[in-house]
Amino acid sequence: MKGLHLRPPQETEFRDIEQIEASWAHVADAGYSAFQAAFHKDWLFLLICDGWQIVGYMCLILKDGEIFRIAIDDRYRGKGYGSWALDAACFLFKAMGFKTAYLEVYEENRRAVGLYERLGWYGVKKHGSLMAMRKRLNTKKKG
Ligand SMILES: CC(C)(COP(=O)(O)OP(=O)(O)OC[C@H]1O[C@@H](n2cnc3c(N)ncnc32)[C@H](O)[C@@H]1OP(=O)(O)O)[C@@H](O)C(=O)NCCC(=O)NCCS
Repeated sequence: MKGLHLRPPQETEFRDIEQIEASWAHVADAGYSAFQAAFHKDWLFLLICDGWQIVGYMCLILKDGEIFRIAIDDRYRGKGYGSWALDAACFLFKAMGFKTAYLEVYEENRRAVGLYERLGWYGVKKHGSLMAMRKRLNTKKKG
C-alpha cells in the first residue's frame, strides 16, 4: 500500500468513477451525481488511488465533518483500501478541529456497518433504513 494517496479527479476520470458507482447502484441513492458532487462548493470529492490505479472514491462534507459517500471498486474490495480512506478522512476532520466524524449507512449494508464498527464508529440514530454513525476523533483506539 506504499503508493496509496488521495487526489481530486480530472474530468476525463468520471467514466471510471461512474463504473465504480454502478457496482453498488442498488445500494446508492438515485439522483446522486459524482460529477455534481465533485464540483459542489462545500464538498471535497477525492479519488482513492494506489499508484496510478483508481481504486475508489470518497466524498466529504467538510463543514459537517461528514463522510457523505465512500466506495471501492469491487475488484479491489477487502484489501484495506476502504479502512485506509476512512482513517484518512478522520485524520483530516480531526486536524480541522472536529471532535467527532459523521456518516450515514443503510442498515442492510451489513458488511459496511461491520467495517465501520470495527474502526470505532457507533450508531447514533436511525431514520428509516438509514443509520447515522459517529466516530470520536480524540482517541487512537479502534473498535
Ligand atoms: C464498504 C467499502 C467502502 C469497504 O471498503 P474495502 O476496501 O472493501 O474495506 P477494507 O478492505 O478496508 O475492509 C474490508 C471489510 O469491509 C467489509 N466489506 C464491505 N463490503 C465489502 C465487499 N463488497 N467486499 C469485501 N469486503 C467488504 C468487510 O466487512 C470486510 O471485512 P472482512 O475482510 O473482515 O470481511 C467497500 O466494500 C465498498 O465500496 N462497498 C460498496 C459501497 C458501499 O457500501 N459504501 C458504503 C456506503 S456508506
